[in-house]
Amino acid sequence: MRQKIVAGNWKMNTTLAEGIELVNQIAERIDQVPQDVKLIVNTPFTHLFAVSQAIAAIKCPFCRSKIALGAQNCADKEKGAYTGEVSAKMLASVGSASNGAPVEYVILGHSERRGYYGETNAILLEKIKLALSEGLKVIYCVGEALEERKAGRHFDVVAEEIKDVLFNLTGEQMKNIVVAYEPIWAIGTGETATKEQAQEIHAFIRSTLAEKFGDMAEETSILYGGSCKPSNAKELFSQKDIDGGLIGGASLKAEDFIGIATSY
Ligand code: PGA
Repeated sequence: MRQKIVAGNWKMNTTLAEGIELVNQIAERIDQVPQDVKLIVNTPFTHLFAVSQAIAAIKCPFCRSKIALGAQNCADKEKGAYTGEVSAKMLASVGSASNGAPVEYVILGHSERRGYYGETNAILLEKIKLALSEGLKVIYCVGEALEERKAGRHFDVVAEEIKDVLFNLTGEQMKNIVVAYEPIWAIGTGETATKEQAQEIHAFIRSTLAEKFGDMAEETSILYGGSCKPSNAKELFSQKDIDGGLIGGASLKAEDFIGIATSY
């Protein structure tokens, strides 16, 4: 059975106080989330320590187990003189230092990182290897731009992002990868892929993964991201190869985030 996941990508939003309030509001509503759905909050680096503690403070152990903590990036170097960077090892150390929930996930390959910060497939592969070596799980994002879709190149673009990066991993490493398909034209635009468009490319991603990893591709959770909200989550999540969502804007309001998670 593939893990169903609803992951929030807070991006560069919320002050520390607002972030703590947000996670507390999510925690208050977490009993509404179906048993088989895992929530992940991917917060700014500055919030990880406090959010880790806030998750650990959720009283009911079952509710606590439904929510995991993640980061939005890590360095492509292990350590050293890289001013401003945060390593995978640092992320992995947060839980024990805070006596709280561990950082379990890191988002890598987001189109905003690829586009604004020049992160190539080669850089992303380094980041992924470091994250995995520290015991983190990776939410690896792929997706095409509008011009690429219009030119009918979306399958090629996504296949390249998968093959250049994930095909360099072992089957064992692949167990700790979640893939997120995020068409760039749907991110933050209010425009969502139709359920047919999304299902088509999710099935394509799964069959591409199967070329290298065989049956294991059936176990990989593939999330949809791009203007996913409570009003459209149900029809997207009802598709065979869509195992949840990576949520940007709508993850910043507990009510919407939980509303999406209860759409299954
Ligand atoms: P959005 O962002 O839900 O605001 O479109 C999704 C993402 O970029 O992860």
